[in-house]
Amino acid sequence: MPEADTKVTKDFRANQPQSNAGFHIKGSGSYDWGMKYRLGRIFREDGNTVMLAIDHGYFQGPTSGLERIDLDIVPLLPHADALMCTRGILRSVIPPAAGNPVVLRASGGPSILKELSNEQVAVAMDDALRLDVAAVAVQVFVGGEYETQSVANMTKLVDEGMRVGMPVMAVTAVGRELVRDSKYLGLATRMLAELGAQVVKTYYCEEDFGHVTAACPVPIVMAGGKKLPELDALTMAYNAIQGGASGVDMGRNVFQSLHPDAMLTAINAVVHDSATPQEANELLRSLI
Ligand code: R5P
Repeated sequence: MPEADTKVTKDFRANQPQSNAGFHIKGSGSYDWGMKYRLGRIFREDGNTVMLAIDHGYFQGPTSGLERIDLDIVPLLPHADALMCTRGILRSVIPPAAGNPVVLRASGGPSILKELSNEQVAVAMDDALRLDVAAVAVQVFVGGEYETQSVANMTKLVDEGMRVGMPVMAVTAVGRELVRDSKYLGLATRMLAELGAQVVKTYYCEEDFGHVTAACPVPIVMAGGKKLPELDALTMAYNAIQGGASGVDMGRNVFQSLHPDAMLTAINAVVHDSATPQEANELLRSLI
């Protein structure tokens, strides 16, 4: 093994974006047709996506705002480029006619009552194909108790996905004891991309988020995190996009908002129309 890399100042050249030769989605120019087709359903022509995350129930049950997905989430679907959910919710509640590309939660196991990093692969690839999803998603716990097991879950899905043209979105799961700074997020996101994930989902960090995106050769989508005031959440999304993220995958900041449809519209303005947080917030206020 190489010696530990202790150099503090690194050369990320964050103001020099990676060129996207051959395709509009970061790092995917050399993929096969099916993989490109699926990624192209998630990411729009501008290379960005607004994904709505509603998979929280896979480990924490009926999350606030997700008690009745049929009543509260289905009406939001026209405002989302993609939907991240479990196969149970997809089959029982989401109308196939909604047409949203789906990023299917494909790992799970422990509940909030147990050690969360002890996940396994929870969906067979042939079921993901049967559901015609656009990608599968897997939690990876870098630094967590079951780090190696969760990495193996991801590489198993990547291997199976490569056989059938199915992208894998790896989600960096940050345990309570880990600091969400650019050093940790840079380690986790780069590891997952190096090990084959076609998309990485991670949290935003105030300091040097651009270093995280610059060093990750595949698209990073920003996870939302706990509910914030709308302007703060829009500011975080704006800063992430300006810092090189290829979109957002937000849950609680949408479905726990008093005005989730207006919030999604405002997020779309930030992600796809370069609206400032103030402009997006004004748009939101004009819709309620
Ligand atoms: C968490 O593990 C879930 O996979 C969610 O998809 C993720 O946390 C994003 O949702 P939120 O924006 O509520 O954090």
